[in-house]
Amino acid sequence: LLVNASDAAGRPIPDTLFGIFFEEINHAGAGGLWAELVSNRGFEAGGPNVPSNIDPWSIIGSESSLIVSTDRSSLFERNKVALKMEVLCDSEGTNICPVGGVGVYNPGFWGMNIQNGKTYKVVLYVRSSGAINVSVSLTDSNGLQTLATANIIASASDVSDWMKVEVLLEAKASNPKSRLQLTTTIAGVIWFDQVSVMPLDTYKGHGFRSDLVEMLTDLKPRFLRFPGGCFVEGEWLRNAFRWKASIGPWEERPGHFGDVWMYWTDDGLGYYEFLQLAEDLDTLPIWVFNNGVSHNDQVDTSSVMPFVQEALDGIEFARGDPNSTWGSIRAAMGHPEPFDLRYVAIGNEDCGKKNYRGNYLVFHSAITQAYPDIKMITNCDGSSQQLDHPADFYDFHIYTSANDLYSKAHRFDHTSRNGPKAFVSEYAVTGTDAGTGSLLAGLAEAAFLIGIEKNSDIVEMASYAPLFVNANDRRWNPDAIVFNSSQLYGTPSYWVQCFFRESSGATILDTTLQTNTSLIASAITWQDSNDGNNYLRIKIVNFGGDKVNLTIDVGGLDPNSIQLSGSTKTVLTSGNLKDENSFNQPKKVTPTKTLLENAGTEMNVILLPHSFTSFDLLK
Ligand code: AHR
Repeated sequence: LLVNASDAAGRPIPDTLFGIFFEEINHAGAGGLWAELVSNRGFEAGGPNVPSNIDPWSIIGSESSLIVSTDRSSLFERNKVALKMEVLCDSEGTNICPVGGVGVYNPGFWGMNIQNGKTYKVVLYVRSSGAINVSVSLTDSNGLQTLATANIIASASDVSDWMKVEVLLEAKASNPKSRLQLTTTIAGVIWFDQVSVMPLDTYKGHGFRSDLVEMLTDLKPRFLRFPGGCFVEGEWLRNAFRWKASIGPWEERPGHFGDVWMYWTDDGLGYYEFLQLAEDLDTLPIWVFNNGVSHNDQVDTSSVMPFVQEALDGIEFARGDPNSTWGSIRAAMGHPEPFDLRYVAIGNEDCGKKNYRGNYLVFHSAITQAYPDIKMITNCDGSSQQLDHPADFYDFHIYTSANDLYSKAHRFDHTSRNGPKAFVSEYAVTGTDAGTGSLLAGLAEAAFLIGIEKNSDIVEMASYAPLFVNANDRRWNPDAIVFNSSQLYGTPSYWVQCFFRESSGATILDTTLQTNTSLIASAITWQDSNDGNNYLRIKIVNFGGDKVNLTIDVGGLDPNSIQLSGSTKTVLTSGNLKDENSFNQPKKVTPTKTLLENAGTEMNVILLPHSFTSFDLLK
């Protein structure tokens, strides 16, 4: 392998090259990144009508002790449904309540992860026909062991109208499958609404589950594309994500049923929170909005203006003056400074739809006029033919087999360098090659990313998809990060991305492989922001089943400039191509880093069968 490391031979890689794509799929957000522990906190999962679907809330008590229903008496206009409990038993008289009382419980998203010593903030709204004494408890999954508890005691006059209650609960034990219980032993009628349990230790205090965010910061993503995917489109327009319904106080958000991935979201993770997440990750938000097209219905171009206005309002919300109509709402939510929104994507995978181009042009023209600096992304692939409409970027999505993605390392070698840049906003190996996240998938993706790195004069952004899966609701396999209420691990696809985290903004060098078709390689140099040192990284995928002895020859670099002590070799491989990580073996397929003892401008190296290796030379 020849590497030309002379200063003149390098080409800058765009700062934005590698980022992440977050979609609300697989309970990635609700029951995942968003740390809210209560599922269906407003009892609205059945929509605005009653009876509503209160699942996963369940009843503690029998027919003779309790009648539970829903009505439309909520304090909040946009989500009128509340839970009504008619408690028939009492602490005295003939119908004595069972020990522990009667009421309801919420198991969260397949169990709440309650940890000893941690504090949880419970917020709920309550109303009653008389005085109340309600126990708010975090218990094990059967309600037998209490981990934390407090009582809400209020007079009839306090709760004759809705009363907001806030309680801090400190857990005295740990259980990853806990539940929240609201119980009483006093007869009467009690309404509950908007019940929330949040851990206090969320990422930067912004409501994100810290361990999951840390997996993201480790990728050093340069952009965050959100919130979908098909989630943005909906099977039907009426069920698509609407940003305006996802902002403002959480209690007032109606929530919605995502009909592509088939689950309810309370929309605690809304448009504002996505922008906040991008800021917290020190990355650029890329907002994908609906352009009047869903999987099954679409708005005629002649009627698309309301959707266009919605997008314009969304941009104003993100970056408008705090005195503007929508900017003032952002400011009221706690962020007077504008968010750094520079990119929007007009729809998702809709290019083939009848009204896409017509609608796109109306959006494009309105956004260009109002926000000339905003970069726009079209769904139509400009890599195979010239686009017939203006765009700054075109989306490119690819889900395929391992061999095919490996060969696609050359996909952008010959595409036109004129016109819009490519945004590979979704890529992954899928199907039997990938299972739920195999080494094989990771190796093919590594090769594909090397191809992207080399073609980063035309491909300016790339992100794997999907990012997250809650293992209890696998709607799509594989994914980069797998979690449940308390555990998490990266699939090989996640670890492959870590090899590229220094690439954005680095310099790509010329590399020439003189042998072996099972290899693909690239080289970059960069100055590390952590230690200020300069490095040269050579990455090589060995996609074949044989060990390869390779000589690496680095030209244009003084041999004496390489420092042995800080030079390292990192290898991702495993005994079997189909090996995967799991909760039991989260590190089965993860990179191993060792000192590179023969670091120099001429190195004889061994590439293991089916491996991805990076050689990092400290200069
Ligand atoms: O990443 C999963 C899905 O794949 C996305 O929602 C969609 O854009 C694509 O079809």
